[in-house]
Amino acid sequence: MDLQQTVTAAFTEKFNTPPSLIVQAPGRVNLIGEHTDYNDGFVLPMAIDRGIWLALRLREDDQVVVHSLDFDETAVFPLTNLQNTQSGWAEYLKGVAWALQENGYELRGWEGVMAGDVPKGAGLSSSAALELATARAFQQVSGFAWDAAQMAKLGQLAENKWVGVNCGIMDQMISAAGQAGHALLIDCRSLETQSVPLPPALDGSATAVVILDTTTRRGLVDSAYNERRQQCEAAAAHFGVPALRDVSIGEFLAEADNLPELTRRRAKHVITENLRTLNAAKAMQNADADLLGQLMNESHVSMRDDFEITNDELNVMVAAAQAQPSCYGARMTGGGFGGCAVALVHGEQVERFVTAVSRQYHQQTGLTPNIYVCQPSAGASVISQN
Ligand code: GLA
Repeated sequence: MDLQQTVTAAFTEKFNTPPSLIVQAPGRVNLIGEHTDYNDGFVLPMAIDRGIWLALRLREDDQVVVHSLDFDETAVFPLTNLQNTQSGWAEYLKGVAWALQENGYELRGWEGVMAGDVPKGAGLSSSAALELATARAFQQVSGFAWDAAQMAKLGQLAENKWVGVNCGIMDQMISAAGQAGHALLIDCRSLETQSVPLPPALDGSATAVVILDTTTRRGLVDSAYNERRQQCEAAAAHFGVPALRDVSIGEFLAEADNLPELTRRRAKHVITENLRTLNAAKAMQNADADLLGQLMNESHVSMRDDFEITNDELNVMVAAAQAQPSCYGARMTGGGFGGCAVALVHGEQVERFVTAVSRQYHQQTGLTPNIYVCQPSAGASVISQN
């Protein structure tokens, strides 16, 4: 049974009638452009074929009733007088309801069953998927227009202000606006997007995007993430601009010697990563897998040495991937300090690649990785409607 069938069957059993609507929102993997989103810069993620599925129907009152198959729990909350009880997964749904209402949307109640297959805590944005699936559900039952960028902003608002995680806009934006078969170049200042196809391999066959989960998890992630944000803000202040997006590489180099050493390295990562991301999007448009791979490799070095957000396991995984002849490039992906790497691989050699990298990673770390070959997928959508 796929997840669509699973949530449909569970809904039918719980509510004694089939659902009137099924929505889905995906997780994501970022190909390049890390820690650039909160610097008003550029990111190049793709939505993946893993996400959150929600089967639901409208209610006549203002209650939301949701059963999570993954947590085996039912949450119930009214849309008026929402209370933040910090009770786990349900706060993401309440946070979205709160953010929508704060911004003038009139919401109606619904009841549903949800399930997901984005591994949690792995850095593949299961929370953004949950936020955008919730936004889709409200949009459908309440009957307002779907504006992907606006929904992404409200998902981020929910996460920042209701859940209390200080993330940027990338994860919500790609979960809202992803395009099947494509990655999305996102300008995180204007929220303009441009879809770019995966480049073919040199012999014309397809390339594959492979997610390599180290199974290590970020420990004190919030503090380290917020510390990087502050360092970037300090660097922008030094240059007298609103965000590091506004500093050119020439301006940076001219001023580099006057920056404190740590600020200099943090700024260098962000400024060069923005350039790499723009070049990566061009490489994809030019069907240049080699150049895209090379930029991914350079991005990893920058995150390892200048931004310092990798751990030993990520470095081992990326080196193991890069050592495979079928690999165009590899880097850590997401927030860092654990989680996943991403590799661009010759499509016909994926199996051999996966076996070799697993073996190598296990030999060096004693850990067994989780590996997912992913298809670039559509953003939050309505899957079926009665
Ligand atoms: C996390 C955040 C994103 C982004 C990345 C780093 O995934 O949620 O907003 O900052 O880290 O690129």
